[in-house]
Amino acid sequence: MSSATFLARAPSNIALIKYMGKKDATANLPENPSLSVTLNGLCSWVEIQRSASEPGRVRWIAELPHAAQGELLVPSLSSEGQQKVIAHVERCISLAPEVFAQHGLSSLPDARSRFCYNVRSANTFPSASGIASSASSFAAFTLASFAACSKDRDAFARAFKTDLAFRRHLARVSRVGSGSSCRSFEGPFVFWEEEHAFAISTRMPELRHFVILVSSEPKAVSSSQAHLQVKTSPLWQGRPERVQKRTDHMKQALEVGDLFSVARLAWSEFWEMHSLFHTAAEPFSYWQAGSIEALHWLSPFVVPKSSSAIVTMDAGPNIHVLVAAEQAEAWRQRLHDRFGVKAILEDRPGSGAVLYE
Ligand code: DP6
Repeated sequence: MSSATFLARAPSNIALIKYMGKKDATANLPENPSLSVTLNGLCSWVEIQRSASEPGRVRWIAELPHAAQGELLVPSLSSEGQQKVIAHVERCISLAPEVFAQHGLSSLPDARSRFCYNVRSANTFPSASGIASSASSFAAFTLASFAACSKDRDAFARAFKTDLAFRRHLARVSRVGSGSSCRSFEGPFVFWEEEHAFAISTRMPELRHFVILVSSEPKAVSSSQAHLQVKTSPLWQGRPERVQKRTDHMKQALEVGDLFSVARLAWSEFWEMHSLFHTAAEPFSYWQAGSIEALHWLSPFVVPKSSSAIVTMDAGPNIHVLVAAEQAEAWRQRLHDRFGVKAILEDRPGSGAVLYE
């Protein structure tokens, strides 16, 4: 069989309630539920080329996917990072027969041993700097890998588009590769608890998302290490219970479209996560001088007023600002004036991973 190419694109997602601390590190099962906003243009592209040469191999190739669009950056992965990707692609290919059978689809027989899989990926933003590149990239690795070992690519594409149970099954497999990636399959607001991640309906106004890019250097402490270290903080005590309550409040606020309450809860939540980092047995920090300056400048906007913003930070120095779309123009101007045009990335909420046919 000649070679075939599979292209997937998955957006990043930004947690308003954080996944931080694991109950089971092998399966990436979280200590507490989380809630996130799926983005759109801040995303990863993954291309898998399946061919019959050198069967049985999965290779990471540090090149741009051929068919991807836009200005893209190929992540520079350590050998450990490459191994993590390869192991995940292998996991997806091995699980495909079982997963497909549950959704009326078929996989190529002996997909793992009969073919070679060349994997290329690129992001529309700097990786490992707190814009959740592992969420977007692992969601796209998962989708492209399953597509590459399906027997009928049209049937696969149809099922991915229309069968929510199938999409959620892929999200569960994706979670094992990187936890937060399970929230990049749907949107715009996604709730993840235990094994299940799904979009929730809300009355939130249409939002716009800005990133204040304080630094695009890769972070020194990976999220996987952070998940372990937070439990050594004296502030960890009671965190799962506290987050459960905060999650319940956030869900209620999202349901009725109460942007002010969402903003207050998101603000407390990211400060709490970063406090865990700062008070771990071996303290660490993602903050830089620019992060603190920006937070100081943003803090008056977290109280209810006409120009309120939802502010959050991931495991990185950069700051995410979500505002009502009707105020986006004023916010764009304000952020450009304060931080400069080049330091501001802009996006909007989206609906999750896409397969290109
Ligand atoms: C701070 O999903 O990157 O972004 O499961 O070990 O791959 P692994 O961790 P990862 O953790 C993300 C942590 C976070 C918060 C969040 O996205 O909820």
